Amino acid sequence: MRIILSTGALPRLEDPGDFKRFAVALETRLTADLKAAVAPVADLDVDGAHIWVRPDAIRALSPLAGQAEWEAGFSEMMRFAAKHGWIDDQGRIRAHIETFEGQPAVDADVFRRAMRRFASGVCLVAAGEDEERRGLTVSAFSSVSADPPMVLVCINRSTSAHRKLTGSSYFSVNILGAGQQEIAMLFAGQRGLQGAARFDETWNSHRLGAPVLASALYSIVCASEANHVAGSHTIMIGRVVDATTNRHDGGPALINYDGAMGHSIRAA
Ligand SMILES: Cc1cc2nc3c(=O)[nH]c(=O)nc-3n(C[C@H](O)[C@H](O)[C@H](O)COP(=O)(O)O)c2cc1C
Repeated sequence: MRIILSTGALPRLEDPGDFKRFAVALETRLTADLKAAVAPVADLDVDGAHIWVRPDAIRALSPLAGQAEWEAGFSEMMRFAAKHGWIDDQGRIRAHIETFEGQPAVDADVFRRAMRRFASGVCLVAAGEDEERRGLTVSAFSSVSADPPMVLVCINRSTSAHRKLTGSSYFSVNILGAGQQEIAMLFAGQRGLQGAARFDETWNSHRLGAPVLASALYSIVCASEANHVAGSHTIMIGRVVDATTNRHDGGPALINYDGAMGHSIRAA
């Protein structure tokens, strides 16, 4: 198994079922600050010659942890390492460091241009009650699983609603219809209103506490299942517990495409 550490990504465990080799692979540009680079999984020797990996960190990274076969293999690897003096008095495992050249980063403008060509819907993601209500406009929304029903939204950590959304037990995803550009701009922070001031009487409070927009094509209410940090954003995964609509006409959707909102499609 190898722990892979690269810039801007969470640590990853490669080949978790291979107990014959053990190493930490580090992207070359991270070697400038070795101590900080390995900190999520390991500690550096005082002389900087070796790193000592915490077994808890390996367990947390292994999708196979807890399975009898994997646990047996891992214990055997630990025994083998102990016999060779590669386990210290705190139970940490000594690891080789390998380095690899990371992929050159894609040009940010090219990436942005590519993403603009992906047509998406537009929704308002909201949480909280009364003066604690917070919400923002989101296009990074996707269905994850049908059984159980799950969705995800990607929320920039620099947005004012991030803390409330990621700290709430329930949140809503309100899918906007064609013609709702104005409320989309309001919740994108483009109309000068912040916090609870963005919500008016067209919002109701769902019995689970999340605000739902009466004029949305659909309001999907989710129980917060997990938050994963990824780059500048938090991926919020929600288990869908309710979906309501007042728009049984199934009107056309608001679409975000090529930097503009308003292209719409009519539901079949
Ligand atoms: C069409 C559109 C789609 C957006 N999609 C997202 C998104 O998926 N995730 C996100 O974090 N921000 C997204 N934003 C930006 C946020 O709505 C905006 O940054 C946020 O409201 C910031 O303002 P605030 O910090 O004042 O709330 C989108 C904005 C627009 C206009």
